[in-house]
Amino acid sequence: GAAEVSEQDKAIHPSASFVSAAQRDRAQGHRGAVFWLTGLSGAGKSTVARGAETQLFNQGVHVSVLDGDTLRAGLCKDLGFSEADRTENVRRAAEVARILRDSGQVVLVALISPLRSDRDLARQIIGDGFEEVFVDADLAVCEERDPKGLYAAARQGKIANFTGIDAPYEAPVAPALHLKTSVNNVDTAIETLSEFIKQQVSLA
Ligand code: PPS
Repeated sequence: GAAEVSEQDKAIHPSASFVSAAQRDRAQGHRGAVFWLTGLSGAGKSTVARGAETQLFNQGVHVSVLDGDTLRAGLCKDLGFSEADRTENVRRAAEVARILRDSGQVVLVALISPLRSDRDLARQIIGDGFEEVFVDADLAVCEERDPKGLYAAARQGKIANFTGIDAPYEAPVAPALHLKTSVNNVDTAIETLSEFIKQQVSLA
């Protein structure tokens, strides 16, 4: 039958803000939005996100980064890399991104977020102003870079469920922005992302 509403759920009454999104936007000079960077380990998500963060900050944008490794050191400490844990990781990041976006921030989320269904969940949670950004580098290039030695460990069977090796990565079908970091250099990707974001959040 229909999902039952528990007594506990009935006792939850979310409050709405008296400050409108338009008021916040006017006060800070730009809209809030979430730019969701997805891609393989080693594709350059964190590097591109941190680079764009610096550029945007220097131009007066209220910007923050939610990075996989950082979240997994705190908020998501209890999660591993099973499919269920990755889904929960994405869900938590999306909920936090939504709160920051509602406060007027430009949020850069950098998570592998390998499954389309999980990214769709994030899109659903965040709603308006969710933009998917594909940080695209070939697996061979990521494996060659292997900045943390994780691909080597995965190949040796020392890490299970490693994305691209023995766990899936589903590339975005229609990303708002497609950054090819194995073809172009990282500074180009940072520049392209920063420009895209400024254009998306501009009030003009
Ligand atoms: S996910 O799939 O969105 O929940 O992953 P994320 O939170 O972005 O965490 C990815 C980083 O965790 C390290 N790591 C692994 N990645 C993929 N698969 C497995 N099994 C794994 N184990 C550890 C890895 O350093 C990832 O960092 P990045 O920055 O992506 O290289």
